[in-house]
Amino acid sequence: MVCYFMDWLTQDVFKLALAKKAVELVKSGMVIGLGTGGTSLVIEELGKLIGEGKLKDIVAVGANYHSRLLAKQFGLRTVDLNDVDNIDIVFDGVDEVDFNKNLLKGGEAAHTVQKVVYSMANVCIILAEHTKVVHRLGSKFPVAVEVLPLATSPVSRRLIALGGVPEIRSALRKDGPVITDLGNMIIDVSFPNGIQNPAELEKNINVIPGVVDNGIVSGVATSVLVAVRDGGHVNVMNLEEFVEVVLGWRYATSTL
Ligand code: 5RP
Repeated sequence: MVCYFMDWLTQDVFKLALAKKAVELVKSGMVIGLGTGGTSLVIEELGKLIGEGKLKDIVAVGANYHSRLLAKQFGLRTVDLNDVDNIDIVFDGVDEVDFNKNLLKGGEAAHTVQKVVYSMANVCIILAEHTKVVHRLGSKFPVAVEVLPLATSPVSRRLIALGGVPEIRSALRKDGPVITDLGNMIIDVSFPNGIQNPAELEKNINVIPGVVDNGIVSGVATSVLVAVRDGGHVNVMNLEEFVEVVLGWRYATSTL
């Protein structure tokens, strides 16, 4: 019997189960896109398979400094985005995912480059613990908007006009704002009633002058793998199966 509540199982157990399932999709010779967060365990698992000689000629493109560093540490050959024409498969974590595979990213301020990596990939696999699945995006997390530092005030006014509540993200172990890998700032925008139309809001935010990109990703994920506790184990299933079997909803692509 599948249990929907997280208790003694830590986040890492879910992330490890997701990583092990993810690497089953990798074949020798592939160019792999690497996201952030729990993807670090995918990097570690890939490193093991390469070390054991089970995978060969893997090239990795990392979406941020952290994933590139980890990839090197675990023996993966890394290249820059500009060095490849396309990416066979990308793996990434997520902050929230809705029943239609729309994503909310940006908790680690890396979404702008992640979206470029997705745009180059044939297949985009999203890894999510069951707590990340929401009926409506924006339920728990704000939308992360990467903004040119000189434009935070005009952008904030436009975000308020869209119904949002903006707040510049502060650094945790440094005074002042978070500065992204690209040298910009992050404005976190909460939408008190959640996000009704993710694709529309993604576009409406991105046309504001001074915005680099925002953390809504609509219509891009090929597949979302969801980790759920199943008795004493962790079961990994597709989002469609999770929504129907675990949450008891009938999956419908556009009506939820
Ligand atoms: C970073 C993100 C997410 O915060 C990240 O992917 C979440 O991953 P995890 O919960 O596995 O750490 O989009 O920009």
